[in-house]
Amino acid sequence: MIIVIDGPAGSGKSSTAKAVADKLDIQYLDSGALYRTLTLIYLESGKDKTKFFELLNQKSISFYYTDGAFNVSIGKQNITDHLRTVEVSEHVSTVAAMLKSREHVNRLMRKAVQQGAWIAEGRDLGTAVFPDAELKFFMVADLDTRAERRYKELKAKGTDITKDEVKKRILERDRKDSQRKSDPLRKADDAIKVDTSEMTFEQQVNFICSKITDKFQRLLKY
Ligand code: CDP
Ligand code: CDP
Repeated sequence: MIIVIDGPAGSGKSSTAKAVADKLDIQYLDSGALYRTLTLIYLESGKDKTKFFELLNQKSISFYYTDGAFNVSIGKQNITDHLRTVEVSEHVSTVAAMLKSREHVNRLMRKAVQQGAWIAEGRDLGTAVFPDAELKFFMVADLDTRAERRYKELKAKGTDITKDEVKKRILERDRKDSQRKSDPLRKADDAIKVDTSEMTFEQQVNFICSKITDKFQRLLKY
């Protein structure tokens, strides 16, 4: 069983999906972390596309969710702590725009969710990766709200950055994610839109949990 949440950066997908996974005791899948993992390999290749895809075919990527953290390993090495650096963030949209990268990540995800119940979040899960997902959500929030959230997170981590800079980077990533040719960020027709601009975190978690419980109670009845 797979439930998906798509939406732009800072709309609340990952923190909400994790909270829902914890509450309902299901697995969590962070597709952005997988694109970030490929980006690490891309950087290792010296940003050489041919070498990147050669390296990618040689490496085995695995992942698991535990204690609120989505862990990724390349071979035996846990590389989770390297996924959210500024360098990876700056290159991830480029890597995610390559068709072969998308095919690779999609294969990994589709294989993983064959067993158990999952909530996954990303950009194209409801449209391209899991068009038959049992439930789809599309999370949005206005740009200022999203920039403010990211700014707070980065400040808490001690990153030296201005709010304007954060806003500029989000805007640029929104643009790249929505305009790329392969599987751009887009709401699936059957996805439930959740605008979190004026919602508290608890409200959006409860809203999604209630939709899931509703749906599965109904499925059990028939
Ligand atoms: O957390 P944040 O929204 O900043 O980004 P992320 O979820 O870690 O995803 C990083 C990047 O991966 C996004 O900006 C997209 O370029 C790409 N991505 C994608 O193309 N498709 C997905 N399903 C998930 C992420
Ligand atoms: O995954 P995505 O990039 O969509 O967002 P995120 O990584 O979950 O970041 C959203 C941030 O905003 C987190 O620090 C949340 O705790 C916070 N937040 C939220 O998601 N929803 C609210 N209503 C208020 C704050």
